Amino acid sequence: VNAAALPRADALPASFRNALRGQASTVCVITAHTPFGAHGMTATAVMSLSVDPPALAIAINRTARMNPHLQPGAPLCVQLLAEHQADIARGFAGALPQERRFSIGHWDRDAWGEPVLAGAVASFSGTVDQRIELATHSLLIVQVRAVRTSTHTRPLLYAHGDFTGLCAVAQECAA
Ligand SMILES: Cc1cc2nc3c(=O)[nH]c(=O)nc-3n(C[C@H](O)[C@H](O)[C@H](O)COP(=O)(O)O)c2cc1C
Repeated sequence: VNAAALPRADALPASFRNALRGQASTVCVITAHTPFGAHGMTATAVMSLSVDPPALAIAINRTARMNPHLQPGAPLCVQLLAEHQADIARGFAGALPQERRFSIGHWDRDAWGEPVLAGAVASFSGTVDQRIELATHSLLIVQVRAVRTSTHTRPLLYAHGDFTGLCAVAQECAA
């Protein structure tokens, strides 16, 4: 390890956050019912964990209002947003109050009654299998029980602090 190339320990949180701006991610919206009704939030800390069994891992900040409701056994739905759904991502990231978030986009219900977004690249219905508390975040292991896909195959991406898409990225490369 080249120690000179490492950031000073006290500078690490800022440089770590800055470095992660370069990690392009597919934008997701997590939805679930809570005692206060349907709830949803934008998340990019979503990864495929295994295919057999079908499982996802999601990191949710403890300050997110839906966090306390995502306990083991709780049903939820994870939508991979399509390129044209950036307004939904902004709304569910706090630009809209919770009670107005479902007013944008067309929302159906999955077999468990959770909100599922029409026109998303994919929606995964599942239940929280395990929950691990890690400092500021809760890591949820989600067992997937049903999948929906749509003809919109191009995902909405988030990189360098902004929403983008595969075509924009390709044009940037061609320029
Ligand atoms: C592109 C993007 C990605 C985000 N990813 C996450 C995430 O993975 N986990 C998380 O806890 N919050 C994430 N957030 C922040 C939440 O969407 C935001 O704090 C939201 O307002 C939480 O819901 P609440 O207002 O109901 O508490 C992200 C925000 C944006 C804009």
